[in-house]
Amino acid sequence: MSRGGKRSFFDTYPNEYDILTNAPVREACHRKEIAAIIAKFKPTVVLDAGCATGLTARLFAERSIPAVGLDRLKAMVDIAKHKHHPASELLSFRIGSFERIPKTLHAKFDLIVCLANSISGVGTIGNLRKALRGFMSALRPGGNLVLQMLNYSAVAEDEVMPVKATQSGSIIYERFTERRAKRLYLYITRLDLGKKTPQLEVFRHEMDNFSSVEIETSLRLAGFRNLKRYADLHFRKRFTANSHDLVLIAHKPAR
Ligand SMILES: C[S@@+](CC[C@H](N)C(=O)[O-])C[C@H]1O[C@@H](n2cnc3c(N)ncnc32)[C@H](O)[C@@H]1O
Repeated sequence: MSRGGKRSFFDTYPNEYDILTNAPVREACHRKEIAAIIAKFKPTVVLDAGCATGLTARLFAERSIPAVGLDRLKAMVDIAKHKHHPASELLSFRIGSFERIPKTLHAKFDLIVCLANSISGVGTIGNLRKALRGFMSALRPGGNLVLQMLNYSAVAEDEVMPVKATQSGSIIYERFTERRAKRLYLYITRLDLGKKTPQLEVFRHEMDNFSSVEIETSLRLAGFRNLKRYADLHFRKRFTANSHDLVLIAHKPAR
């Protein structure tokens, strides 16, 4: 996510991603979201784009749906493979970027999920367009794409918004986010109280703050149709100005 050679938390502490994001606590809620996705799309094979340590892909495989996790960070993919091997032969993980989806994954999937702001990792509108064309090529005709943007409407201009704090042993993690003009910043602090002198590190991840109009325009340019906006992954509530998160679904026409 970090660009221009700046240090990224995900590169520096890939082993701590699950603690930072509270994965053990998130898992029960996420299992229900995956059940709702399966009920809506009835997928037969799924690409988890931006899989990080592989939770989403694993939850599909647990429901007997083959899933491939894709992530550009080798360290994340290594952890995903290690954690879930040999959980299921329905599950595999690949290193690769959305902008350059490996050829062997073209026309393979009837559902792509790109969750938890993974799409923001592309960084620029040009890369967003490449990524959406990449998703288009990975889908079979008639397939669907689900994009989830967390905290989409929550961060006001020039406001710093706390996202979450988590603790593991002597280490405290805090995440907060800020929106300035067209840029979105995610700050992660890692405070280690276990050292003789407490050690504080700060990571800044910078990305383009895509509006839903920009994403929808890019989806249409990539060839997607039947775009729909929801407030969450249960697809019961439509997105409104008061919704916290934004979930977009887009369809690849059968012909
Ligand atoms: C916030 S994490 C989300 C992980 C997971 N989807 C979840 O729901 O917990 C974003 C992940 O997307 C990956 N990512 C971001 N941009 C990417 C890109 N352009 N191509 C491939 N992976 C990307 C990052 O490396 C990171 O592991």
